[in-house]
Amino acid sequence: MKHIYGDNLISIRRMMDCSEDYNLLTKWLSDPSVCKYYEGKSKPYDLKKVIIKFGPYTRGEERVIPCIIEYEKKAIGYIQYYKAYSDEYDESKIVDMSKYDNPHGCDIIIGETQFWNKGIGTKVIQMTIKYLFQNENADIIFIDPQTWNKRAIRCYEKSGFKPIMIAKNRELHDDQPKDCLIMVITSNDKDLCTL
Ligand SMILES: CC(C)(COP(=O)(O)OP(=O)(O)OC[C@H]1O[C@@H](n2cnc3c(N)ncnc32)[C@H](O)[C@@H]1OP(=O)(O)O)[C@@H](O)C(=O)NCCC(=O)NCCS
Repeated sequence: MKHIYGDNLISIRRMMDCSEDYNLLTKWLSDPSVCKYYEGKSKPYDLKKVIIKFGPYTRGEERVIPCIIEYEKKAIGYIQYYKAYSDEYDESKIVDMSKYDNPHGCDIIIGETQFWNKGIGTKVIQMTIKYLFQNENADIIFIDPQTWNKRAIRCYEKSGFKPIMIAKNRELHDDQPKDCLIMVITSNDKDLCTL
């Protein structure tokens, strides 16, 4: 399958509108140890729920570009990126968005838990940043981990993201509202006012 970006070890390909890829997402998003870092342990996905959520992405009906992360050609996780709306992250009080024409956002889940804490997430995020700046003409990229997800925050910091603000009650996790840390990277980071 054609890869969008990556190297010999880690590569990123488009998630397809096919049962093989929906089954991968179902396997990962039904695993309680992964659910804990997604919508919560009480919110597992089954195949039907995966197709309802990810089908519009794979068919190009929405702006989200869904991708599969492969490590040595084995599918290990999911990453998505998208063109962001202005103020999608409630960021306009902090960032002068009139300076940016092409904001993007991204999200990542390594679904195979034995691949956590090996530096792979950091490499994938770094590759994604490079791809979005160079190939999608992004000029600012946002990511919004929940504030309690210290590993994700550390991974994004190592990748070059800077924290700019906390967005209160931004997401539901196990039906409870959670705060998110809004983090950004631009091609010209001296413009940013960070936390
Ligand atoms: C978040 C995720 C993408 C990170 O990828 P990864 O490959 O596991 O992360 P890396 O190994 O590149 O980096 C993790 C860093 O966090 C650190 N870390 C791990 N657990 C930590 C914790 N509880 N508190 C603080 N730091 C922690 C690691 O030590 C490492 O930092 P270091 O290199 O300075 O030692 C991956 O763990 C994942 O998919 N988790 C489940 C889903 C998820 O949380 N997605 C993100 C939603 S915003």
